[in-house]
Amino acid sequence: KETQKIRGSLLGWYDKYQRELPWRSKEEKETEEESETRAYQVWVSEVMLQQTRVQTVIDYYNRWMRRWPTLHHLAQASLEEVNEMWAGLGYYRRARFLLEGAKMVVAWGGEFPNTVSALRKVRGIGDYTAGAIASIAFGEAVPVVDGNVIRVLARLKAIAANPKDSITIKNFWKLATQLVDPCRPGDFNQSLMELGATLCTPSSPSCSSCPVSGQCRALATSKQDTFVQVTDY
Ligand code: ADE
Repeated sequence: KETQKIRGSLLGWYDKYQRELPWRSKEEKETEEESETRAYQVWVSEVMLQQTRVQTVIDYYNRWMRRWPTLHHLAQASLEEVNEMWAGLGYYRRARFLLEGAKMVVAWGGEFPNTVSALRKVRGIGDYTAGAIASIAFGEAVPVVDGNVIRVLARLKAIAANPKDSITIKNFWKLATQLVDPCRPGDFNQSLMELGATLCTPSSPSCSSCPVSGQCRALATSKQDTFVQVTDY
């Protein structure tokens, strides 16, 4: 019951307030081919977003997509070209993994893997990226957990455990698995990330505008400032 309420409130809020970002689609249902394109877009954007702010990523993302609009274009690129395009984003290993991953998928026949377990076999795709691609592009009901999501869930459920502890991280994945909306997993996951990025911020969260303030155990006990920043978990 509580879970239903949280899902409904988050999705309703996301429908109304989500930021317009170039890798987000406006379509409800997509053809298989569109899902493949979307998977590539989600992959590139999520990898860029791993260490870099949204505002910075937008330009890089648009330039990248103009140069390599599909996975097949990317697979033809050289490491030098990819590194050049990445210049300024840092952590160049991420760019190399994207290139190597694209080459792997093309070598396997060119069809984008569409489940978490298949995606995990691609170079550079870990639990986070696999969850993002599977849920956002293919509608698999799997969670996505990053630092923002951990903070949101920690507050929502008043979980005062060390967020850098591997057991704790496992528990957040478990919790997120139970919470994810089975009908709209991609939007649900993005609503949690979006909430963490915009309202449920590390300091001075905007609880009065929050769609799940009524369900938030931290707010109920005025402890929202106890659960703060989680980076590089
Ligand atoms: N941060 C990383 N990925 C994101 C996404 N898909 N939506 C909002 N914030 C994000």
